[in-house]
Amino acid sequence: MNYSKILGTGSYLPKKILTNEELSKTVETSHQWIVERTGIAARHIASTTETTTRMGTIAAKKALEAADLSPKDIDMIVVVTCTPDKFFPSTACLIQQELGIPPCPAFDVQAACSGFIYGLSVIDQFVRSGMAKRPLLIGSEVMSKLVDWQDRRTCVLFGDGAGAVAFAASDEPGILSTEIGADGYQKDILYVDNKPGAFIQMEGSAVFKLAVMKLEEVASKTLKNNHLTVHDIDWLVPHQANIRIIKATADKLGLPMERVIITLTEHGNTSGASVPLALDAGIRSGKIKRGQHLLLEAFGGGLTWGTALIRY
Ligand code: ACO
Repeated sequence: MNYSKILGTGSYLPKKILTNEELSKTVETSHQWIVERTGIAARHIASTTETTTRMGTIAAKKALEAADLSPKDIDMIVVVTCTPDKFFPSTACLIQQELGIPPCPAFDVQAACSGFIYGLSVIDQFVRSGMAKRPLLIGSEVMSKLVDWQDRRTCVLFGDGAGAVAFAASDEPGILSTEIGADGYQKDILYVDNKPGAFIQMEGSAVFKLAVMKLEEVASKTLKNNHLTVHDIDWLVPHQANIRIIKATADKLGLPMERVIITLTEHGNTSGASVPLALDAGIRSGKIKRGQHLLLEAFGGGLTWGTALIRY
């Protein structure tokens, strides 16, 4: 059996931190409102040199170090991002060159904030089929360039950063299963147009309700398909959009918040980078241990959603 086993993780956060207090000097908001409605206290904001490619490269380097691999070991690169530096080449090709990875398949996957779960599903298919032995999956985002800094309904939510995971095909588990889905009929509740000066447009409460409904549905389906219950899950590693969405989903599943990895307090919503950033934080802090069962989940523009069940 070819499982996609996690060998190592890494992440990168921009140097500049923007707190709620600082934000409340430029838009009409308050630390209290943002924390109560979202759980976010601060976010990292990329400088002009902290590009999607640069941050993804640093995160990937750390993942390779943790995995004890060198760039020449990698035989596939998948980057998830909705904020690429160029229309083409793909960010995966740019990172390949920066890291010095020899020629191999390299491409980007775009599923907004669900991107990393889509990426996990994609690399797992390549590993299971035998086409990839050592894939590298990277999520990197500069969300700050998609945000209207005058719009208090959205600018308080997002942040920048990158996370990466190095995998190896293995007889030991691995990714046990992935579920991904999309409903393009909901395209108008969360989007950014591709034209100069366009920013994130979002119907916050509609996204909120659909996110909670879909996440509970797809997480329950994942557990059922794998003959597991919530008691078998050691850690929920959710997309970090809003603490109330995470809590509502955990409550519906019957999972205590003590078993949920939370990074949004300091990171905000980093879209496709949020799940690998949370995973890396959980692993490096020693909370997530080898052999444990992890349930990763995300939702985002599209609408898109997904889960990945992993034995770490
Ligand atoms: N500071 C102060 N007041 C604010 C702010 C702010 N930053 N933002 C909105 N308000 C006001 C609104 O104007 C509104 O005022 P009104 O009643 O006078 O009109 C009031 O607060 C309540 O606004 P709501 O939008 O109803 O607030 P809600 O409780 O729904 O919280 C939020 C808004 C945080 C956006 C929430 O709906 C949410 O998190 N939704 C999900 C969004 C999400 O996860 N998006 C990312 C998806 S991932 C991707 O793919 C990008």
